[in-house]
Amino acid sequence: MKSGLQKISAAKKHKPLIERFTEYRQQHRDDITKLYVLLFLSFLSSLMIQERMGIDHFVGSFLLTAILLMMFYKDIRRYKPAYLNDYKLLLLLGLLVTGTLMLGRIFEYLLAGLYRGLDFPVNGYSLFGIPVPLGAMLVTLIFDFHTAIIFSFVMSLLSGIWLNNPLYTLYVFIGSLAAAFSVIRCKKRSALIMGGIYVSIVNSMTAGIILLFSGDLFTPAAPPALMFAAMSGIMVSAIVSFLLPVIEYFFGIATDISLIELLDLNHPLMHNLMIAASGTYHHSVVVGNLAEAAAEVVGANPLLARVCAYYHDIGKMKMPDYFVENQKGSVNRHEKLTPHMSGMILISHVKEGVELARQHKFPKTVIDVIQQHHGTSLIVYFFQKALEQETSDNIPSQVNYRYPGPKPQTRVAALVMMADAVEAASHSLAEPTPARIMALVEKIINNIFLDGQIDECELTLKDLSEIKQRFTYILTSIFHRRIEYPEIDMKGQAHKAERASAEAGSQRPAPGAAIRGNGNSNKEQPKTDKDKPALNQESGTQSPRLPDRETAV
Ligand SMILES: [Fe+2]
Ligand SMILES: [Fe+2]
Repeated sequence: MKSGLQKISAAKKHKPLIERFTEYRQQHRDDITKLYVLLFLSFLSSLMIQERMGIDHFVGSFLLTAILLMMFYKDIRRYKPAYLNDYKLLLLLGLLVTGTLMLGRIFEYLLAGLYRGLDFPVNGYSLFGIPVPLGAMLVTLIFDFHTAIIFSFVMSLLSGIWLNNPLYTLYVFIGSLAAAFSVIRCKKRSALIMGGIYVSIVNSMTAGIILLFSGDLFTPAAPPALMFAAMSGIMVSAIVSFLLPVIEYFFGIATDISLIELLDLNHPLMHNLMIAASGTYHHSVVVGNLAEAAAEVVGANPLLARVCAYYHDIGKMKMPDYFVENQKGSVNRHEKLTPHMSGMILISHVKEGVELARQHKFPKTVIDVIQQHHGTSLIVYFFQKALEQETSDNIPSQVNYRYPGPKPQTRVAALVMMADAVEAASHSLAEPTPARIMALVEKIINNIFLDGQIDECELTLKDLSEIKQRFTYILTSIFHRRIEYPEIDMKGQAHKAERASAEAGSQRPAPGAAIRGNGNSNKEQPKTDKDKPALNQESGTQSPRLPDRETAV
């Protein structure tokens, strides 16, 4: 008798081929789409490297390009899989390949014309002026250095096929690597100029070596060839400076350069936040410290995490007084509002923040984090308040007290969410000892996890453990108890000194004795009202804060 498995495999075998093909297509739809895109880009790139007519030549160059792009794709799949989840990034990478080749063709035509126009000896060295390394520079700035190396490799081989010149392959590869290296730590737009100069120097040296190898270094062809090689770096920096903001705008990408610009606390939005909602401003700066430190331990982009944390609550500027960190004294704006209305006001700060960020042309990555920083979490305080006021006509629904989401889709968004919640809750600790801080961090992050808020991002349990440790460390250093310096009672000390001198004749009193005595008595002084614990409406434990903290967990 046939087993179940044998029956299934037999049924599979007898399935019509078309049906099996349809099934396969549905299961691998994503991969098939990427394959089509890859073939299309190979087609475009092979058009760019065509030097002579003929179907055999075209098919050959198409297949060579497809193999190289497939290698590039495999490398990204192995080492940078995050790029594959974003079609926009993949498309940009493909466009950078074909776009660089296209620009190369345009420059080849222009430089050849210039060479002839200036009556230089024409022997192909005008090619040294083609700014192919711009592609590697852009890839480093937008993606990363690893991707730029593979990009340089592919571009140099394609350029070699196009110009049918192995020495040019070497020239492009070295120039592209130099371009990638030159901007590896680029934090300012002005640094692109230095990058261009660096490429010029490296290209000139490579051109000199190639001329030496070819036996042309001491011929009249050498000076113009070296001049064109030197010019190519300058052109690279000029084109990259122009193209980078265009790409950032159209693809909604945040490069380190634009993130550094947003990190400036004098940015108009941060400046307005400081004036309109100083409590939120300070909260955001601390959240920035937490998120950046956590990003470092989990391998996310620390710079992006800090920037997103700085701007996550900018929407509170519209109605700052409704948020606890900006409330002064005992005035609570929510006292006269229904819980539903209070909840709506709190929820609105996310939408307002997204609108403000869009108005200021923020990168999409940052806008997404602003939108996702509360996920779909519940505003517990007002929901509980609504439950307490429940009537048969008015039964509160959780839906009305949840943020609209979406849940954090990236690790940075999740880090900002957790840092935000932990920072907000940390103020409820009257006596923030390291053990209490650790317990609070543990509780807050566990609540976020159990509420399913970080289900849609790629954080692991190991990451969560490291994030908790890092948050505890930073909060402990922020809230560390200052040493209570003893207060010197100068008046009492004078009396003691008088008594001591009367008792001991000419012997002077030891000053330290009076100070120690005052130090002990200082311990018994009553603490200020600030130190007295009050009830925390979120956790039911002690809290000196007003009740409407917008953190939901
Ligand atoms: Fe918020
Ligand atoms: Fe916040």
